[in-house]
Amino acid sequence: MTEHLVDDLAAFPADFLWGVATAAYQIEGGVREDGRGPSIWDTYCHTPGKVANGDTGDVACDHYHRWREDIALMRELGVTAYRFSIAWPRVVPLGDGEVNRAGLDFYDRLVDALLDAGITPFPTLYHWDLPQALQDRGGWPSRQTAERFGEYAAVVAGALGDRVRDWATLNEPFCTAWIGHLQGQMAPGLADLTAAVRASYHLHLGHGRAVAAIRAAVPDARVGIVTNLSPYEPATDREADRAAAVRADGHGNRWWLDPLHGRGYPPDMVEVYGVELPVRQGDLAAIAAPLDWLGLNYYFRVVVADDPTGQAPYARPVYQPGVPRTAMDWEVYPGGLEAMLVRLTQEYGARRVLVTENGAAYPDTVGPDGQVDDPERTAYLAAHLAACARAVRRGVPLGGYFAWSLLDNFEWGYGYEKRFGLVRVDYATQSRTVKASGRQYAKLIAAHQRRTRGALR
Ligand code: FCB
Repeated sequence: MTEHLVDDLAAFPADFLWGVATAAYQIEGGVREDGRGPSIWDTYCHTPGKVANGDTGDVACDHYHRWREDIALMRELGVTAYRFSIAWPRVVPLGDGEVNRAGLDFYDRLVDALLDAGITPFPTLYHWDLPQALQDRGGWPSRQTAERFGEYAAVVAGALGDRVRDWATLNEPFCTAWIGHLQGQMAPGLADLTAAVRASYHLHLGHGRAVAAIRAAVPDARVGIVTNLSPYEPATDREADRAAAVRADGHGNRWWLDPLHGRGYPPDMVEVYGVELPVRQGDLAAIAAPLDWLGLNYYFRVVVADDPTGQAPYARPVYQPGVPRTAMDWEVYPGGLEAMLVRLTQEYGARRVLVTENGAAYPDTVGPDGQVDDPERTAYLAAHLAACARAVRRGVPLGGYFAWSLLDNFEWGYGYEKRFGLVRVDYATQSRTVKASGRQYAKLIAAHQRRTRGALR
């Protein structure tokens, strides 16, 4: 750890949230326990050929049984906030109708234990595990799913809202709509532009319904949404590539941000997709309900070229030689985090931004002493935290940073092959070991707290 970075972090406010993030399906396991209903990820994983090595989230990190131990790990790291997701199929197993008290109880206990540990609970209501029963009735391409999501949000907010103030509605609607319904590489595995565009619209609407439901149940709630954003740059100066970068930015960034900020859907993209949006009166206002914060999940930059024969947005990624990459083949590009934070502030007027995910997969090795030295992940985190500090010095109202992830876990279509954790999980024994990157994170948190506490005195 460099002293230099500790100096940089002095830019962060004293009440900065130092967090880690996870998601229900990626860590919980216990998929058939206590009345949980099946989700689209259960179905997808159990469809041969969809997930690497045939991996599933059936057991995952067994967090459903080991959550106490996992909270103890968070205490060891010294984090002050924990972003986790609530599994809709645990709470409302069939997507609507009967509420499963046993499912809610799990999160009830988790929240209590987090508060006892001095860690702020930061739930996300939807991190991709749609109840299969709702998929069978049309899924996100159907308006009904948005309405059901609002009802489920009301149930959860009603149950936990006496203790939880910080709420995220959706995680990365981009991935649900585009990767799940257009690229077919995530559940539900469709490749249908019309379905994808309709899904994107109903995700936005569902978010709006959830914001209203949370505010009704928890008057002092702080509500936001989690978006994954990247800078998209043209591969060459050619007009066609520059236009492709504008479309890629429309697809990845503006399509998601503009409606949330009352700007409606970007007309250039409506034309690119050529799919009519099922807008009804009042929808756009519901979607643009004011937010208390905006969540940014940042992993990489994308360089694109024109691709007229590909699929929307007709831009293909172009590999940049010489740029370091993670095990996901994602560029390591911390300047993109600074740029996106500044853009959210200057272009969208965000009043509070949180980095709700940032992290890296690398092929870790376990040393003879059982320890995991992961210098690349350690450097990745340091470089991205430095980028956050630069953004704060440029006026970005950054309220917190959540490292992805607390644990190695089920990385969706990649299964267990890709490890993002600050803590290693040995899946055969479920034993956990804090990696060197986790120890560095703990030191940075402690150093920042010492410094800001000193400044407050
Ligand atoms: C994000 C997801 C998260 C995790 C990371 C690596 O897109 O929100 O669940 O898979 O990527």
